[in-house]
Amino acid sequence: MRLLVCGGAGFIGSDFVRRMLAKHADWEIVCFDKLTYAGNLDNLLPVAEDPRYSFVHGDICDRAAVESAAGGVDAIVNFAAETHVDRSIAEPEAFLHTDILGTHTLLEVVRAHGISRMVQVSTDEVYGSIDSGSFTETDTIKPSSPYSASKAGGDLQVLAYHITYGTPVVITRGSNTYGPYQYPEKLIPLFVTNALEGEKVPLYGDGMNVRDWLHADDHADGIEFALLNGEPGQVYNVGGGNERTNREITSIILDELGLGEDTIKWVADRPGHDRRYSLDCSKMAAAGWTPKVDFENGLRETIRWYRDNPEWWKKIKHGTGEFAEWRKRWYEERS
Ligand code: NAD
Ligand code: DAU
Repeated sequence: MRLLVCGGAGFIGSDFVRRMLAKHADWEIVCFDKLTYAGNLDNLLPVAEDPRYSFVHGDICDRAAVESAAGGVDAIVNFAAETHVDRSIAEPEAFLHTDILGTHTLLEVVRAHGISRMVQVSTDEVYGSIDSGSFTETDTIKPSSPYSASKAGGDLQVLAYHITYGTPVVITRGSNTYGPYQYPEKLIPLFVTNALEGEKVPLYGDGMNVRDWLHADDHADGIEFALLNGEPGQVYNVGGGNERTNREITSIILDELGLGEDTIKWVADRPGHDRRYSLDCSKMAAAGWTPKVDFENGLRETIRWYRDNPEWWKKIKHGTGEFAEWRKRWYEERS
């Protein structure tokens, strides 16, 4: 199997690259990534010398660049996206380019070159918020943020290409993912690294929004399963089955680091903040896949990984100034 992994220098994409090379001796992976602020070649250092791995710097909106990198591949797995909801609220345009037009470009390349499989990595956020019960794959999508609306636009392109051209694409809709190497703008790495530096953790609203947490290794395995076993044109929910309020997540982080609740800073809510996400994952379970990582152990191990690898996140938080600028811009107005 020769794979083109788009967005493989980000959080989940790099987990997938590292994990698939370790699991499959006969797989070759070409990682194709624009290296936006969220892309980081340090995430791929563990495989950098592996002869089965190569890296191409490029944008998924650039058809010629994708075509050149995709030569001879059996499948494309697309992680490439703008991914942070708060940044999509502050500045939506890049989300429309990458998450919709970039997906469209990949579909065109798959169609033109007869590539036998593509997996579009999507998100539970396309369904919107649900007060009770869980979303199944056939539920109507109702995205709330510019991020989730852009991801939904990508999903609709994928499904339309399958219906119109028979393009062999499957979609995974994953839930909130946690683990090592996550850019420290997202809840868990932001709170852990803030706390480690003696700063407050900024909890939005009443802290009672619920997310379903999935370990990055489980997310990578769910995508692998869909790549190998998914039926073209189908959507697969990939959830962790670990619904927790943000307040509960914060308490575990503070407990693991030996800190008190006075570390919390209550700040103004995110506009349009979805209250609860919940996925019905019986379709994946019936096909033969369920997540494996125990949540409390996985989260505590993840917290310890950030504690033990400060050189990884300090370079991001204090390196180029990009992170500091974002933090100032977003959090000052919420205080
Ligand atoms: P991330 O922000 O950590 O990484 C995104 C990667 O895509 C980066 O390496 C970036 O450089 C690259 N990229 C961005 N624009 C690009 C472009 N135009 N061309 C090529 N590369 C580009 O993201 P993540 O959290 O690892 O998420 C990966 C995928 O999984 C995304 O599609 C996201 O929507 C989806 N997802 C994420 C989560 C989560 O909780 N993190 C949950 C469900 C689904
Ligand atoms: O559900 C899947 C999605 O999960 C992915 O598609 C997205 O790419 C990923 O970023 C994530 O989106 P969320 O908005 O759920 O993740 P985030 O880490 O930004 O926020 C998680 C929760 O924590 C959410 O309810 C908002 C809250 N939060 C977040 C931040 C950054 C805070 O209370 N304070 C914060 O500073």
